[in-house]
This record gives sequence, structure tokens and C-alpha cells, in this order.
Amino acid sequence: MTNVLGGKKAVVTGGTRGIGRAIAERLLREGAEVAICGRSAAGVEQSVAEMSHETGGTVVGTTADVADLNQVRALFTFVDRQLGGLDILVNNAGIGVFASVSQLSSDDWRRTLDTNLTGVYYCCSEALPRFRNRGGGFVINISSLAGKNAFAGGAAYNASKFGLNGFSEAMMLDHRYDDVRVCTVMPGSVATEFSSRSQNDDWKIAAEDIAEIVACVLRMPGRTLISRVEVRPSKPKK
Ligand SMILES: NC(=O)c1ccc[n+]([C@@H]2O[C@H](COP(=O)([O-])OP(=O)(O)OC[C@H]3O[C@@H](n4cnc5c(N)ncnc54)[C@H](OP(=O)(O)O)[C@@H]3O)[C@@H](O)[C@H]2O)c1
Repeated sequence: MTNVLGGKKAVVTGGTRGIGRAIAERLLREGAEVAICGRSAAGVEQSVAEMSHETGGTVVGTTADVADLNQVRALFTFVDRQLGGLDILVNNAGIGVFASVSQLSSDDWRRTLDTNLTGVYYCCSEALPRFRNRGGGFVINISSLAGKNAFAGGAAYNASKFGLNGFSEAMMLDHRYDDVRVCTVMPGSVATEFSSRSQNDDWKIAAEDIAEIVACVLRMPGRTLISRVEVRPSKPKK
């Protein structure tokens, strides 16, 4: 446990497992107070209990679907009440529906775009006035290399992550003079339950490695902004 982020207050969406969970744990170990959300109440409850036990830090959580504006508003009201401020927003919650356009249902299309893109906009809109009260803040958007490399079966996911990269970069330009630093993290394959977990994930990036990148972004002095990070397995499976 360090105190690098002592006094800082953070929200990690989708913090119950995978990359979001690793980021939440890392922020806690660096001394931040952390709020997480996910759609599953059981998932939130269990993760909060485990992270509190493992790190001894201040961690709270609530159910919220980032695709739903009213639930996002309720999440940030919860954060106001529980943490009393906000300095760091990690937009991590995301889903992947993989099907060719002819097989893709309009529901899957909407759900993917609403979660991976519109949900990020909702959270950023809630975070910005709160950052103003604290003199600035960080937004870290967990995008994907699928935001620059299209692949067959990726129409909905690619569209959401290409869109997220554009949104994220424009927001960075919009708010850099407000002391809001926006970073887009674009991982390749990470060993999580996101896509069916195989027996041997050794070649993939570990979720903790993405958390290390986030910690590095947050450590930069105010004059410097890591605005985009591409990260991939060193030796992807052939
Ligand atoms: N794993 C990879 O290879 C990889 C590569 C590049 C980028 N990414 C990106 O990294 C992010 C995290 O992926 P992951 O691999 O850690 O996935 P994961 O293991 O499936 O975890 C996803 C997390 O997001 C939550 N979540 C999903 N939809 C949500 C919603 N609508 N509202 C609130 N929370 C929601 C989940 O909880 P509930 O299910 O309870 O809601 C869970 O906590 C995603 O944005 C993904 O696109 C992943």
C-alpha cells in the first residue's frame, strides 16, 4: 500500500471483475478511495467485500447499468454521498457481441453501442462538473485495439470502440485547459472472462498490466498528458 493517490477519489465502471477489478484494486493500493459499479448486485457485493479485505482501503459499490442515463445519475449521486468528491473516472464497463452484420440483431447492436460508447458519454457528463469543483481530474477510457483494427464479426464492437476513440480524443482536446486529462487505453487480448476463457491464456496481457498503465498515466506531472496507449501481447498466439 502506498499513498501516491492519497485523498483522491475514483470511480471504476465495471469494477467487479477483469480489467476493471484489477484497476480498482491498484487504485486502492495506491491510497485512493474507490467506487465501483456493475449490473449484478451479487458481483458488486462480493467484489467490494473482497477488495476491502485484501487492500484495507475505502471501497464502495452500487449496481448501475452505464447504458441507462438514470442509473448513471444515481451512480454519481451515490459517489457524492459515499466519497464526497471525484478526481478520477475510469470508463471500463464494456461488452462484446461478435456476429456478422447479417446475424447481428438490432438489440445486440443497440446494447453494444449504448454500453461501450453512450455509457462513456453519460459518465463523462456527470464527472465534468464534479471535476470542476476539485480543480480538474482524470478520465481513462478503456477502449481496444478493435478501435483501430476492424475484424470479421466485429461490426458492433468495432463501431463502438472506433467511436469511443473519436469521442475520447475530442474530449481530451475540449477539456485539457480545464485541467482534465483524458487518456484512451487500447489493449489487445487481455486474460479475462470477456471472451470465452481458454485453458491457456499465458500469452495474453494480464489485467494487472493494464492497471499498471493506468497507475502510470495518473503518476504523470500536471504538465504531461499520456493521451493514448496501445498495448498488445508481446507474442500473440500464432
Ligand atoms: N479482455 C480483453 O481482451 C479486452 C481487450 C481490449 C479491451 N477490452 C475492454 O476492457 C473492458 C473490460 O473488459 P474485461 O475483459 O475486463 O470484461 P469482463 O471481464 O467481462 O468485465 C466486464 C465488467 O463490466 C461490467 N459491465 C458490463 N456491462 C456493464 C454495464 N452495461 N454497466 C455496468 N457495468 C457493466 C461487468 O459487470 P456486470 O456483468 O455485472 O455488469 C464487469 O464488471 C471493456 O470495455 C472491453 O471492451 C477488453
